[in-house]
Amino acid sequence: MKHLHPKTEEFINSSTDSERINHLRKPRWIGYTGAKKVHNKLDELRNYPTNLRMPNLLLVGDSNNGKTAMLNRFAMMNPSFVEEETQELFLPVLMIQAPPEPDEKRFYNTILDSLHSPYKISEKAELRQQRVIHLLQKLKVKLLIIDEIHHLLAGTMSKQRLFLNVIKYLSNELKISLVCAGTREAFNAIQTDPQLANRFEPRVLSKWRNDEEYLRLLTSFERILPLKKPSYLIESSISSIILSKSEGLLGEVSKILELSAILAIESGVETISKNIIENIDYTPPSDRKKMIFR
Ligand SMILES: Nc1ncnc2c1ncn2[C@@H]1O[C@H](COP(=O)(O)OP(=O)(O)OP(=O)(O)O)[C@@H](O)[C@H]1O
Ligand SMILES: [Mg+2]
Repeated sequence: MKHLHPKTEEFINSSTDSERINHLRKPRWIGYTGAKKVHNKLDELRNYPTNLRMPNLLLVGDSNNGKTAMLNRFAMMNPSFVEEETQELFLPVLMIQAPPEPDEKRFYNTILDSLHSPYKISEKAELRQQRVIHLLQKLKVKLLIIDEIHHLLAGTMSKQRLFLNVIKYLSNELKISLVCAGTREAFNAIQTDPQLANRFEPRVLSKWRNDEEYLRLLTSFERILPLKKPSYLIESSISSIILSKSEGLLGEVSKILELSAILAIESGVETISKNIIENIDYTPPSDRKKMIFR
């Protein structure tokens, strides 16, 4: 089975059909070039020497195109650790989700919750802020990642501004780099504050196009999908149908391949063909919207 990664081949040889299907339903990670570039950038920010004006990153991209997966992976690769000599606990990277609306207290709560640090409902915002700053300093957090930053758009303009000021204050006080991720609307929100706009370098995670990078992605998928026969996903008849159905979104490409591989196992054909893709129970994202608004 030359089309497979050796580990995938080993897995096929030791698994039943239902084990293979179960495996296909689990999350997968493919290290595509765009993800590697962002990873390198995050590494650079984590190692950045402390400075009065720390560089920040704003990762923007369409929904379901891999932002959270990428950041989660980076956070997982930078776990907390105890330094042997001092027995001190370090947390180089802290990742949180912006609260569903731009609310200062809830923002601090999210950070305190993620550090398992209790707080009283009556505790004032200033006190909470001081505790957050103290904790992050103590843990020597180098990078604070705030995902779903577009949630800040759920509030009024004045609440949005207040929240942006909170972010700015944290970054100034702690002198750490911030990484915010969200949809394109988040970019517009940050642009409303010229100081923040200056400090956030935008990185766009574009939709996939029919280019070499996309074909490389399909090749990587083919190597880890546990199918006994090659599918030749990069052949233009197959690659173009996956791209058009997925509308260029990584989550959709992954879903189409997952469903196709499952059908290929269930039907016994063991390969993803145009026919298999046409027969999976899958609706492209924009048709889903049409179904709801019809
Ligand atoms: N590196 C990867 N390899 C394989 N599949 C991936 C990868 N990254 C993401 N995916 C797939 O894409 C899906 C969507 O990814 P993710 O949740 O990171 O998107 P997102 O950009 O954060 O979307 P949203 O803006 O809606 O939060 C994942 O559930 C996973 O199936
Ligand atoms: Mg996300």
